[in-house]
Amino acid sequence: MQLHKMAPGRVQAEQKKARPLLPKQAVEIQKFGRITTLPNGLSERVCRLSVEVLNQVLADTMTLRDLYKKHHWQTSGATFYQLHLLYDKHYNEQAELVDQIAERIQVLGGISIAMAADVVETTKLERPPRGREEVPVQLARLLEGHQLTLRAAREAAEQADQAGDLGTNDLLISQVIRTNELQVWFIAEHLVPLALVRDDAT
Ligand SMILES: [Fe+2]
Repeated sequence: MQLHKMAPGRVQAEQKKARPLLPKQAVEIQKFGRITTLPNGLSERVCRLSVEVLNQVLADTMTLRDLYKKHHWQTSGATFYQLHLLYDKHYNEQAELVDQIAERIQVLGGISIAMAADVVETTKLERPPRGREEVPVQLARLLEGHQLTLRAAREAAEQADQAGDLGTNDLLISQVIRTNELQVWFIAEHLVPLALVRDDAT
């Protein structure tokens, strides 16, 4: 078979095109914090404001999600089985929120934070110890995390509403706020001090 002959310069250029780009050669096509203007009827200023507050809610939600998985693995005691399952249910719901918030940021032309180191620098949630904590501490820690996330989400929803970014407002209210409020209820009820077995001796 006769191969088509190509000028050496063109061969080199073609080979270069097919070569995988290694990380060192790669360039950022959009810097963090910059907005790519999309024809969505919102000004760049409004998109930037929403992206900023959404990234805060995102970092808090990612931390809360991971806190649930930590507790899912490390819980103990008489309520081990139900808490093990409940923590994982909430983990999955928080993971779904993470995706929705991150994609809303991209929809607005922004860049969502993604990696653990960036989450740590951004979140307002306190870092838990690496070790295992007893159940009431796990529950209290989760409630504190929900509280901080809910405050950030309500402030963000308010701001988005005032700026006319109704899509962001809707996501924050109907997904983030409602999911977190429901999870607060489920977790808080475990902290009502009722014994599993009544002690008739007292
Ligand atoms: Fe598991």
